[in-house]
Amino acid sequence: MVRDLKITVLAENTARRADLLAEHGLAFWIEADGHRILFDTGQGKVLRHNADCLQVPLETVECVAISHGHFDHTGGLKDVLDAGGQMDLYLHPAALGEKYHQEKSPPHRSIGIADLDESALRRRTRNLVCTDQPVELTDGVHLTGEIPRRNDFEDTGGPFYRDASCTEPDPLLDDQALYVETPAGLVVVLGCAHAGVVNTLDHVARLTGRRQVHAVLGGMHLVRAAMPRLDATVAAMKRYNVEKIGTAHCTGMRASVYLWSQLPEQCFECPVGSVFHWQL
Ligand SMILES: [Fe+2]
Ligand SMILES: [Fe+2]
Repeated sequence: MVRDLKITVLAENTARRADLLAEHGLAFWIEADGHRILFDTGQGKVLRHNADCLQVPLETVECVAISHGHFDHTGGLKDVLDAGGQMDLYLHPAALGEKYHQEKSPPHRSIGIADLDESALRRRTRNLVCTDQPVELTDGVHLTGEIPRRNDFEDTGGPFYRDASCTEPDPLLDDQALYVETPAGLVVVLGCAHAGVVNTLDHVARLTGRRQVHAVLGGMHLVRAAMPRLDATVAAMKRYNVEKIGTAHCTGMRASVYLWSQLPEQCFECPVGSVFHWQL
């Protein structure tokens, strides 16, 4: 159980301070009872800069956890490794695979982890933990592992493929979330939620046996979501009594507006530099 939890947004699509930089990407610096965890790394253009501005010592990170293998979550890995700390790196094996986004016409865009293969990651980290299973990173801080897709209204949210000619759809089995057990309930941190927000919350509830979710924040990838999916997402937020909902990154303007209209007391923004601190 984590009693002191502080989450600092290091990379996100929006910035509200003159000295901070935004990019299409996501990275959260998580301090949990003194442990230091980085969940995702952005696409690499802003992580180092924002960390310096926010006085976040990247070199002290104990665990780096990757939500999935897309470039906008993994591009800053090189900067974290270059910072020189001793860290364990956690990811799903599928995060290391080739990943493409289908464009209107070829060539299709490569969107996987650039420049770092498994052997480089193994060489440059204390431990590379490549697993599809749930794991506890530090006391009370967990990764979900692979998230079962149990409903018929959520999909990966875009034209994602595993090959350059875009014939083999990418189910993004690597997609996982991080969750923290606190006395107020679970705090769930999403990367892109390609497995679906509802599938993710259902999986966390199954893993923990807890149905009180205090906060959900991160990318919800609802850019292309139709109304039934948006309504099901709102219903799940209500079902889990989510008190705080941070719509970030790839949630999308239309979906964010809808979530805010349905859950106005719960929703909040997560621009770069936001600090969310729970002392419980
Ligand atoms: Fe993303
Ligand atoms: Fe993604």
